[in-house]
Amino acid sequence: MSRKMKNKVVTDLKIERIATEGKCVGHHDGKVVFVKDVAPGDVVDVRITRGKSSFMEGEPIHFHEYSKDRVEAFCSHFGTCGGCKWQHINYDLQKSYKRQQVVDQFSRIGKVENMPEVLPILGSENTRYYRNKLDFTFSNNRWLTREEIDSGAEFERNALGFHIPKMFDKIVDIEHCYLQGNISNDVRNELREFALDNNLSFYDIRNQVGLLRNLIIRTSSTGESMIIVQFGADTQEEIEMVMAFLKDRFPEITALLYIVNLKKNETFNDLDVVTYAGRAFIEEEMEGLKFRIGPKSFYQTNSEQAYELYKVTRDFAELEGNEVVYDLYTGTGTIANFVAKQAKQVIGIEYVEAAIEDAKLNSKVNGIDNTLFYAGDMKDMLNNEFIAKHAKPDVIITDPPRAGMHEDVVNMLLQLEAPKIVYVSCNPATQARDVALLSEKYSLDKIQPVDMFPQTYHVENVVRLTLKKS
Ligand SMILES: C[S@@+](CC[C@H](N)C(=O)[O-])C[C@H]1O[C@@H](n2cnc3c(N)ncnc32)[C@H](O)[C@@H]1O
Repeated sequence: MSRKMKNKVVTDLKIERIATEGKCVGHHDGKVVFVKDVAPGDVVDVRITRGKSSFMEGEPIHFHEYSKDRVEAFCSHFGTCGGCKWQHINYDLQKSYKRQQVVDQFSRIGKVENMPEVLPILGSENTRYYRNKLDFTFSNNRWLTREEIDSGAEFERNALGFHIPKMFDKIVDIEHCYLQGNISNDVRNELREFALDNNLSFYDIRNQVGLLRNLIIRTSSTGESMIIVQFGADTQEEIEMVMAFLKDRFPEITALLYIVNLKKNETFNDLDVVTYAGRAFIEEEMEGLKFRIGPKSFYQTNSEQAYELYKVTRDFAELEGNEVVYDLYTGTGTIANFVAKQAKQVIGIEYVEAAIEDAKLNSKVNGIDNTLFYAGDMKDMLNNEFIAKHAKPDVIITDPPRAGMHEDVVNMLLQLEAPKIVYVSCNPATQARDVALLSEKYSLDKIQPVDMFPQTYHVENVVRLTLKKS
């Protein structure tokens, strides 16, 4: 950053609109200023944290006027915790900003001729307690507020909560989280108290030592819950103490699991998961279909909105029963199994082998026998040999990660010329980029944003592409 700009304060900046990644935008001296944690309509003094020749970034240090669209933030951790960053903006506006993001990305990046109208976003009925999975971290380095530091007093430094954005070793101790209902807050708070009362060590990430490392809580709309505790030390007596406490105190937990993780990172796809009590999975249900979710399985984190998303996907696919459908990036095969009844055959492809095992199991559990699932990297799997072995698709459903599809995959889709492509994405920018590439042969005829994550700037988007007549 230019030294001249560092710590410079821009006064009376009028915040004009929301830009990408939830930051807001104002203008100063002919430059765009991106500001976090404000709302359009606020007038603020901003301390510049980053400056380039064409733009600046900063944080608010004083509010002169508050936007009329603001609402009271409901969470005591607002501003410190990295989640729920939009809770100071009323929900109707959140929805319209999200829809506008899709409009902007498709106009700017998509550059598609005859772009259809972006449909109104499908809002979430629950705007709080909508997540079915949260991941909390134990730490011996609790984030202290400015007031706590200034007071000079001694504070408890052990914490169980979320990472402070961009600080890998600092954790905000969470008292109440509005993202997950059921027993989530009780389990977290009582486990923390139990650990403090019994002098169990909280993880020290810098030195990679400590017993209690991480707590994952998964819940399902069927009322089941999975608790996974990750331990950073293999001291069985202490592990037994923690697990026995959870089992006795929360008999309603249906899957109580633990992992001993002595690695440098918290990922556990390559580690053994021990079932301490109950089952090794929980179940979700949709239209009578059951989906098994193991500790390593991906499942959309907002179950109610996942159902809306899948219904849009199925509607856009307009299946009549005789189609071969490819479900690319199938995860645990949820979309594949969800549409299987309406198709002749569904073929799912996914990178993670364990997810493919779950996908097959989910077909079996539900008596679905017209699905096939394959594990591998999409750009390697989806080749001429694969197509020759299976029937050519009539409909392709694709739901890639945030980075979008690999160029080779896009080229393969252009070569395949399936009559319809339904593209689901959690990142409209990469989706718009891929749609622009596909527009050589496809017309874009439907765009439906879905809000999976209220109180955040994230937006899910489904589009339908139809093969142009040659
Ligand atoms: C957004 S999730 C979609 C999950 C699924 N459609 C659902 O609704 O549950 C994207 C999936 O793509 C998978 N994936 C990421 N990169 C991949 C690649 N190069 N090849 C195949 N699958 C990949 C991830 O493992 C993940 O399961």
